[in-house]
Amino acid sequence: MLTPSFPTDDPILVAQYWAEGFYVDDRDPGYRILNINTCADFPSHPGPAASQDDVDAHLLHVERGSISVDRLAKIEAALQGLEPKVVNIALMHHHPVEHARHDLLKDTYGPATNGEKLLDLLERAVNCGRWMLVHGHKHIPNFTVDGGSAYSPMVLCAASVGGHLWQPVAAVARNQFHVVEFETARTLGQPITRGKVLSWAWSFGHGWRPAPPTTGLPSEFGFGALNDPRDLADQVAAALDARGVEFDRWSSILSEYPLAQYLGPVDMSLFEDRLETLGYLLERDRQFAVTTVARKATWT
Ligand SMILES: [Fe+2]
Repeated sequence: MLTPSFPTDDPILVAQYWAEGFYVDDRDPGYRILNINTCADFPSHPGPAASQDDVDAHLLHVERGSISVDRLAKIEAALQGLEPKVVNIALMHHHPVEHARHDLLKDTYGPATNGEKLLDLLERAVNCGRWMLVHGHKHIPNFTVDGGSAYSPMVLCAASVGGHLWQPVAAVARNQFHVVEFETARTLGQPITRGKVLSWAWSFGHGWRPAPPTTGLPSEFGFGALNDPRDLADQVAAALDARGVEFDRWSSILSEYPLAQYLGPVDMSLFEDRLETLGYLLERDRQFAVTTVARKATWT
């Protein structure tokens, strides 16, 4: 009975979402969305006379959310036989696996029940292409890759866009929003599913700004590359050494080593650490975008 309808405008998909707890939106040739309702199995409240144990069991279920094994089987069947696409997005509220920043969240409830089975299912649904799962619920944004193959799903935990964050979460993250850009042109030698995530952070009195360090996700990071970031750094440093130059533009480096732009945020840090041990620094502009790779001055 919601107006406008939720979570999409197509009455058939809306009906399926509420009846089955998920839908696959495959209408656009450019992308595919698997939308899962992790609240579909919420039990009703045990009532005012319930024991504390019953209330606690109820709250645990509500905090975690779930994807029942029946629903997983239906999702698996729905994905079977689908054509490959570059963009496959799975969307749900709760986190499928424990959040790496669990220590900051003062919760004890854990990830959505059967979330790890869902990721395994998506990894094996290679007929679709590679999946990115986007979820919320945790308030601290994060980006991970979860699985054991080149088709391991990428997991983007989106920040709160307008939540009232509490300590200690507020000490490590602010409200952010993200724009995910996929590069859909097929280029040999590059990952089929690749792109970048741009993030903005809210700062009281300043408004939305390209996300500064320590506000959650960085203002920009790539995804899709499966390369060893230290090997890439060794290649870049060796080339600069061989040319005997003090610096080079980041855009020139990327045109020579295009895979560097698809390193995830953690791999990008490893890349930068390695460059630093080899005597080179990444320099950034005031929007925190990398501009230059420069040889460390002898006095630093
Ligand atoms: Fe939530």
